[in-house]
Amino acid sequence: MKLIVEKICCIGAGYVGGPTMAMIAEKCPQIEINVVDINEYRISKWNDIDLNNLPIYEPGLKEIISKCRNKNLFFSTDVKKHISNADMVFISVNTPTKEKGVGAGQASDLKWIESCSRQIGEFAKGETIVVEKSTLPVRTAETIGSILKSFSDRDKKAKKDQKKFFILSNPEFLAEGTAIFDLENPDRVLIGGNNERAIDSLKKIYLNWVSEEKILTTDLWSSELSKLIANAFLAQRVSSINSISALCESTQANINEVAKAIGMDLRIGKHFLKSGPGFGGSCFKKDILNLIYICNHYGLKEVASYWEKVIQINEWQQKRITKIIVDRMFGNVAGKKISILGFSFKANTNDTRESPAINICSDLIEEGSYLSIYDPKVELQQIQIDLGMKPLDDNSWPNKNGGWQFAYSIKESVENSDAIVILSDWDDFFKLDLKSLINIMRNPSWIFDTRNTIDTKQAKAVGFNIWSLGDGSLI
Ligand code: NAD
Ligand code: UGA
Repeated sequence: MKLIVEKICCIGAGYVGGPTMAMIAEKCPQIEINVVDINEYRISKWNDIDLNNLPIYEPGLKEIISKCRNKNLFFSTDVKKHISNADMVFISVNTPTKEKGVGAGQASDLKWIESCSRQIGEFAKGETIVVEKSTLPVRTAETIGSILKSFSDRDKKAKKDQKKFFILSNPEFLAEGTAIFDLENPDRVLIGGNNERAIDSLKKIYLNWVSEEKILTTDLWSSELSKLIANAFLAQRVSSINSISALCESTQANINEVAKAIGMDLRIGKHFLKSGPGFGGSCFKKDILNLIYICNHYGLKEVASYWEKVIQINEWQQKRITKIIVDRMFGNVAGKKISILGFSFKANTNDTRESPAINICSDLIEEGSYLSIYDPKVELQQIQIDLGMKPLDDNSWPNKNGGWQFAYSIKESVENSDAIVILSDWDDFFKLDLKSLINIMRNPSWIFDTRNTIDTKQAKAVGFNIWSLGDGSLI
């Protein structure tokens, strides 16, 4: 096995594969990196000359792509060729929650892991280090290992070139919106494995920009499990603070004051204490569901039900917000125009997977309101997929059945609306010109701020009725 890796293949050109490989390419110009995907459209967008058309939006990403693409970083659909040539193959494919069969609704669907393990088994040559980058249930390396072994055994029998595989777990901890910063300045890099030389090969790559004391090596199972647990703990903090946001509203306390006061205790810490409309993103929910599944599998019912609550609070927070909007608008939003600001699950990403906006918007449409949705990076087609309905054409409004339209600017979204609902924390929403916005709205004009982006005193002064999450002074 090569200690110094020369060629990497990454399977999966998504939110993790793309930025992670871009960072390795930038920091290791001596390594050739091929990111492969079966999704031709996605690969064509990674190769688009116009860097504004990259398939994912991440601050700082296009600068690295413009520097490294077609130098030592390549995007391709030729999975076979690039697996065959690689010394190291990263598996960075999606692992969503299973939709049917055993474990449906909880267990991770490993069909993409299995199919790319088979591809690696088929096409790899000689000694190959296989790195699990995707988030996987604990002991998945065992499954990958037995698939790969079946290919080496087959070739051994046929007296063909001997294949040998070394499996490592190297979970990714980047958060969307700050992926490039996180990759460049990781809190830690975790490498799990049982072959010292393979571990060293991967470690040497990271040592190009990460200091040695931040590189933690463990056994495979601890590494796989640590990733699930890190996400579960982060999500648990969000549900904890969100549960308290409701209590603040009932007791005239303020959630930001409470978060600040408890966060200054070093044992608690100040991060991940921002209350909001509930956690979204592709991973928190699926990883906790997976954790619940694993706990039940091992007969740990109490542990499973403890983590179930974290998800239940998240769903409750979204329902609670919709109810507040309807109640405050005199119990009726049918026929009213509501401006929705923000559709992504957080600022600085175009990702809408599990975005709280999907449930809140669907429920408001169900109540008969007409939503004008604006987001700086999410495209109309994505919102259509997420809401499962086409936008209304101009002639089919007003009606009492509810619906939505896409807005290209904040002003267009807010014009003639009865209420503004802020759902993600994009910078622009902290700087709204409330004075001019109220002049183009209907009366009474409402703001429902689920991200505390608005100065409530100023909003009141210009004439808004305002509800801001967790602010008990606004009852
Ligand atoms: P994604 O859906 O954006 O990308 C996965 C890509 O893999 C898709 O483009 C898909 O076409 C491709 N793919 C699937 N099977 C393939 C195959 N056999 N051959 C070639 N390509 C194949 O997913 P993502 O958000 O990048 O997440 C990937 C993994 O990383 C998941 O396990 C996730 O839990 C984990 N993770 C995600 C994040 C995040 O912020 N999104 C952070 C840390 C870890
Ligand atoms: C999260 C983790 O932060 C990453 O470490 C992990 O790698 C990743 O999941 C993953 O495995 O996919 P991400 O989902 O991209 O990253 O974004 P976060 O910043 O964690 O936000 C998740 C959700 O929680 C967002 O909806 C966000 O608005 C919400 N959140 C976060 C809050 O409501 N309050 C907070 O204080 C922090």
